[in-house]
Amino acid sequence: MTKTVLKGAIAAVAVLAGAQVALAEGGLVINGELEMITEAPAADHLKGSLTTVYSGWVFRDVDTQAMQMDDFDNPGMLYVDQGEGMWNAPAGTSEKSCADCHGDASESMAGVRTVYPKWNEAAGEVRSLQMQINACRTENQGADAFKYGKDEINTMEAYISMQSRGMPMNVAIDGPAAATWEQGKEMYYARTGQLELSCANCHEDNYDNYIRADHLSQGQTNGFPVYRLKDTKLTSAAGRFVGCVRDTRAETYKIDSSEFVALELYVASRGNGLSVEGVSVRN
Ligand code: HEC
Ligand code: HEC
Repeated sequence: MTKTVLKGAIAAVAVLAGAQVALAEGGLVINGELEMITEAPAADHLKGSLTTVYSGWVFRDVDTQAMQMDDFDNPGMLYVDQGEGMWNAPAGTSEKSCADCHGDASESMAGVRTVYPKWNEAAGEVRSLQMQINACRTENQGADAFKYGKDEINTMEAYISMQSRGMPMNVAIDGPAAATWEQGKEMYYARTGQLELSCANCHEDNYDNYIRADHLSQGQTNGFPVYRLKDTKLTSAAGRFVGCVRDTRAETYKIDSSEFVALELYVASRGNGLSVEGVSVRN
């Protein structure tokens, strides 16, 4: 698609004002009992940009929404089961499992997903959850790092995220994380690629509008890792960023780059208040 065509497409959708976010009746309730926060007042730092934040679930069609409402229908749950097996399996030269040190994940990992990416004092860096998992693999297990953003680590991330399902996202953006957060914010608003589009052009200015066949969401990350029907497997947040940047016809950063960690922190902070979905379903 040429630059003018897509820009035209965006201009065209932008004038289709009045489109309203379609909240499914009753909202997202999982297995008929676990109520998820899919709509929340925007965090203070979004003042002037957004008043309400929405989970990407809100923008999916009824069939996709329904898959996430029942764990038997959610294909992502198979990965969660696999992740549990990985959690308990000894690995590396230590021959220790994650469970040997962390015990029952439902206790030790409850709430962990809500605060990542997070500053790690000892390492002097902001770490995504995947970076932390790999740090434990290499430093504590004596095992090889998982390939960042690929199946195994996405599976482990799904298992850990599930222990925070329903809890509101709450990443810290101040203190030692502030500089990384600022870097991520700059990236979010920078127009890139041949199409000269920023993340904000699509996910802030045009959410709830259609771009080609896609109902644009706010591009939130509270649902990650997501099971994508298109790929029939899990995708990490950074994996999704790679796809979105390519769509602007820009050179993308490496999936495990510090730039994408900064962007992941910033985007996560835009979703503070929305429930972690553990493993969500998207098209
Ligand atoms: C030899 C012990 C050991 C093993 C094995 C181990 N870890 Fe850790 N892990 C730690 C320590 C120590 C920390 C840092 C201090 C803390 O948060 O308790 C940590 C921190 C973490 C954190 C961050 C928790 C937070 O609150 O921010 C996660 C996530 C994590 N580990 C996941 C894993 C996973 C997944 C595995 C298996 C692949 C694993 N760990 C294996 C010792 C271990
Ligand atoms: C040309 C428009 C466009 C741009 C620019 C764009 N995206 Fe997207 N993005 C989409 C579309 C279309 C989807 C799929 C439908 C949806 O969830 O919005 C999507 C999905 C996402 C999702 C998944 C949301 C979910 O709930 O599963 C995230 C996260 C995301 N984008 C982040 C970003 C970030 C960060 C940037 C900037 C680097 C960006 N996007 C730039 C069009 C865009």
